[in-house]
Amino acid sequence: MSADYVLGTDEVELRRLGAQHDVWRAAAHAAWQRALIGAGSTVLDLGCGPGFAAADLAAVVGSTGHVIALDKAPRYLEATRARGVEARACDLDDDSMLPVAPGSIDAVWARWVFCFLTRPRALLARVAEALKPGGVFVAHEYFDYSTWRAAPRVPEVEEFVAAVMASWRAQGGEPDIALSLLPWLGELGFEIVSARPITHVAAPGDAMFSWVSSFGRTGLDRLVELGHVSRDRAPAIAQAWASISTVPHVRIVTPSVLELVARKR
Ligand SMILES: C[S@@+](CC[C@H](N)C(=O)[O-])C[C@H]1O[C@@H](n2cnc3c(N)ncnc32)[C@H](O)[C@@H]1O
Repeated sequence: MSADYVLGTDEVELRRLGAQHDVWRAAAHAAWQRALIGAGSTVLDLGCGPGFAAADLAAVVGSTGHVIALDKAPRYLEATRARGVEARACDLDDDSMLPVAPGSIDAVWARWVFCFLTRPRALLARVAEALKPGGVFVAHEYFDYSTWRAAPRVPEVEEFVAAVMASWRAQGGEPDIALSLLPWLGELGFEIVSARPITHVAAPGDAMFSWVSSFGRTGLDRLVELGHVSRDRAPAIAQAWASISTVPHVRIVTPSVLELVARKR
């Protein structure tokens, strides 16, 4: 099992995931409500990262419920366990069954993980096996990452976003994976309960503005490390992110997420 993936799992990225969860927490809770996750539910969190959402889910399902969090990164599994959530090591691109009994799960939650997988459809089929009949799949995944732009347009922002997308694709992922998840769910016999786009137009000072601009700053080093941004271009892109909030009248459009809720028939 390879331990690392395109965004890495260092301390800076771990903290970024925490700040990202703070920004997206309300949207996640709203999605879980639409999926009828509540006290007593047994929930699987796919690609749980350091367990920020998993810990919230554990509070939602309470002592009569159960959250099982899966990831392949040892550091994230440890961080999830430190939040009091059961975490199991699992490479989601692996062919073996998910480490849960078939037909035992009420709800499966996935946020920003299918976009990094090389065999996402195979995982969705295994999700269907793990769910009880009537169980739900609920996800926040991108359907158009390239909506992430500044107004007025900033060429370095668009260059950065294109490099992020290229880096995920170079490792076998697909940023706009939600466009595939939707039809695959239908093919696998799920009923689509809801499909809701989430895109924001954020001003400096908005939480969503901080979310994207902080990834602009921390993600750049990783893109240089992986060779998707040249050392020559990095200073201009870094400068663009450092000064973006001072651009007169600036807004940032966020990468577009699709919230999917689907029920296994
Ligand atoms: C962007 S993070 C999202 C974490 C969490 N879902 C959240 O929303 O905060 C992507 C996560 O997917 C995990 N991941 C990527 N590829 C994986 C694989 N093949 N098997 C298991 N986990 C994987 C990473 O380790 C990381 O924790």
